[in-house]
Amino acid sequence: MSSKITIIGAGSVGSTIAYNLSNNDLASEIVLIDINKEKVEGEVMDIVQGTSFRNPISIVAGDYEDAKDSDIVIITSGIARKPGQTRIELTQTNVNILKSITPQIVKEAPNALYIIVSNPVDIMTYVFTKISGLPENQIIGSGTLLDTARLRFGLSEHFEVAQKNIHAYVFGEHGDTSFVPWSCADVSGASLDDYAEMMRHLGKEPKPLDKAGMEEYVHKSGGIVIAKKGATFYAVSVAVCKLCGMLLSAYDSIATVSSVMHGEYGIEDVAISTLTLVGPNGVQGKVPLKLTDEEVAKLQKSANSLKEVISQIEL
Ligand code: 2OP
Repeated sequence: MSSKITIIGAGSVGSTIAYNLSNNDLASEIVLIDINKEKVEGEVMDIVQGTSFRNPISIVAGDYEDAKDSDIVIITSGIARKPGQTRIELTQTNVNILKSITPQIVKEAPNALYIIVSNPVDIMTYVFTKISGLPENQIIGSGTLLDTARLRFGLSEHFEVAQKNIHAYVFGEHGDTSFVPWSCADVSGASLDDYAEMMRHLGKEPKPLDKAGMEEYVHKSGGIVIAKKGATFYAVSVAVCKLCGMLLSAYDSIATVSSVMHGEYGIEDVAISTLTLVGPNGVQGKVPLKLTDEEVAKLQKSANSLKEVISQIEL
């Protein structure tokens, strides 16, 4: 595929995204940009030296001018979460970094689709939407794509069935107020309870599903990985590469990504994840999946907690 993808930020997340992209034939050109020139050059050397074993690809450590004509720009810059630190505590520092990057990259790549990955991702997506001057359809926050992947992994382990058969989502903030709309979760078309019953008929006896425990697993995973190894970057980078694939595809896809709400579920003026139609033209809109009243209330609570943070930051 002859597409050009620029990644801003050559930390663990940005570099791992570049590495994964270099392995999956989505891009013919990758530009990695970072203020730390030594680091970005080192990352690019390390990635590019493995490429003789795959299709030719151009990977450069560049400046903003090199981002010209990018199809996708991925923003990963920011200070990473430290052990024990909440995503929200990072907010003003990372907003300030985003404010310095935005005019420089938007000038060079005004037509690109932008994937915002920096945390707190929903706030950063909202801020980027406000300050970039770009049409909203061009702006996609990675949101709860990773949380949904964590949920599907957890449910797949629980039910001992392939993740591709599990349709279940994490909605809300990429953070502590996210939740699972269980009313929409199924395994190959069967509700989770019906699926467990079906498995009993096949002589399998799945344990009762601890839904609260599963949500806690999703909430705590990022923090646990950070506590154990200092950062999370493999799973998020695979999720972002998958999102690039959706944006470069001929068809729209449905994913839990963050974008600004306009009255859906009674929420507006905040970026948050619900099912979203995304594709070659970016965000096509939120999919109005039917939720229970209790689930709508949880989504509104999550949105309100993000608005509370937005009210405290300087744009
Ligand atoms: C994660 O959830 C830290 O947001 C990052 O893995």
